[in-house]
Amino acid sequence: MEKLWTGRFSKQLSDIVNEFNMSIPIDGRMYKEDILGSIAHVNMLGNRGIIAEEEAVKIAAELAKILEEIQSGTLAIDPKAEDIHSFVETELTSRLGDTGKRLHTARSRNDQVATDTRLFTKKKIAEIAAELKSLIHTLCELAGANFDTIMAGYTHLQMAQPITFGAHLMAYAFMFLRDLGRLRDCSVRLDVSPLGSCALAGTTFAIDRQETARALGFAGVTENSLDGVSDRDYCIELASAITIIMMHLSRFSEEIIMWCSWEFKYIELDDAYATGSSIMPQKKNPDIAELVRGKTGRTYGNLTALLTMMKGLPLAYNKDMQEDKEALFDSIDTALDCIKVFNDMLATMTVMKENMAKAAEKGFINATDCADYLVKKGMPFRTAYKITGALVAYCIDKGKSLNALRPQEFQAFSELFTEDIYTALDLATCVSNRLSEGGPAPQSVRKQIERCKEAVAKIDF
Ligand code: ARG
Repeated sequence: MEKLWTGRFSKQLSDIVNEFNMSIPIDGRMYKEDILGSIAHVNMLGNRGIIAEEEAVKIAAELAKILEEIQSGTLAIDPKAEDIHSFVETELTSRLGDTGKRLHTARSRNDQVATDTRLFTKKKIAEIAAELKSLIHTLCELAGANFDTIMAGYTHLQMAQPITFGAHLMAYAFMFLRDLGRLRDCSVRLDVSPLGSCALAGTTFAIDRQETARALGFAGVTENSLDGVSDRDYCIELASAITIIMMHLSRFSEEIIMWCSWEFKYIELDDAYATGSSIMPQKKNPDIAELVRGKTGRTYGNLTALLTMMKGLPLAYNKDMQEDKEALFDSIDTALDCIKVFNDMLATMTVMKENMAKAAEKGFINATDCADYLVKKGMPFRTAYKITGALVAYCIDKGKSLNALRPQEFQAFSELFTEDIYTALDLATCVSNRLSEGGPAPQSVRKQIERCKEAVAKIDF
């Protein structure tokens, strides 16, 4: 395929440079955005009388045909084309001759690629957001079904205080809600059209940038032509938002992996969402969670690649920027895959409520409640803390739990202990009394679910 830029060259590009330079395997995915961008552009050229109206109509119609043919599979994207912009323009010209050659008036591939990438990114943000919403929905459902499921809460991976599984799940739901907000911010900021920035310096033709922006569904236009073609902040913002989503998924994966182990057995993954071993017949491995945790790294790498790619670039466009799409698209694909499969895995797993409750009996997780009991009877907290610490040491020595101590044993530590200590130490009481706003009490979990659902409904794309 002949290059668009052959005029000043006396030699063909060497094969190796051609291979090295081309981006079609990556940007071929943006064929729809590229063609819609060209249609908006040529319509504007016709409306403004920059090219003859009949020619503009012809070009727009042929572009629509090309789009239709690619979509239906009758026209294959030439894998040897330099990039998607070259492919579409060359295809158009091969069909319309000189008329097709008018399309690129008052435009450059620099504003073209910036426009395509913004459109593509905007669409993908909406897809990721929809998957995130679905994941949050699953979490709210699961939390609803486990709003009073008692579980040990951890700090330092040591059993700490009693919580509900619902509260634990809602912690993740609120993380993903923030992620949704970040996607929304990014989507709003990127929603301006760079089309008409041309190579870097705008154009002497009387173009109407507002018209093309409107036609493409952008909320506005970029304010500076050099910035218009050389800004990749939105790629970095999305890649960054994705790293945070993946970091959240990775933390969650780590817990899923632990919870599946025989040591915990808090959950059982559905057989369709776990794998076996080729040698150990007993194995059931949480590969999905491990892969999600593993894939998080590549999204961090992509963000670093983008930031590093941009840090030394003089204004305006530089070919370095062609590297943006491979990194960004990989992050987008990874996030979409991971959120989807993780969501399905969660929705199909079984929660082993009894195992959670049984495990919570160990580890003295009601020790703070024991100290709080004394505080409520008038003792200063630090004193109560000390006495309870001594009680725990006594229990460890005797191999008993706090609830198993006899009244006299309690009283040897403080006279404030009376019969009601046993209710106070009961894990169900400990949890249901944790009613402070945002706390793990069943009632509080229900409120959190409601608030989370309300917040999700308010964020749209
Ligand atoms: N394939 C290029 C990219 O993705 C398109 C822009 C090319 N512009 C140029 N001046 N060579 O960045």
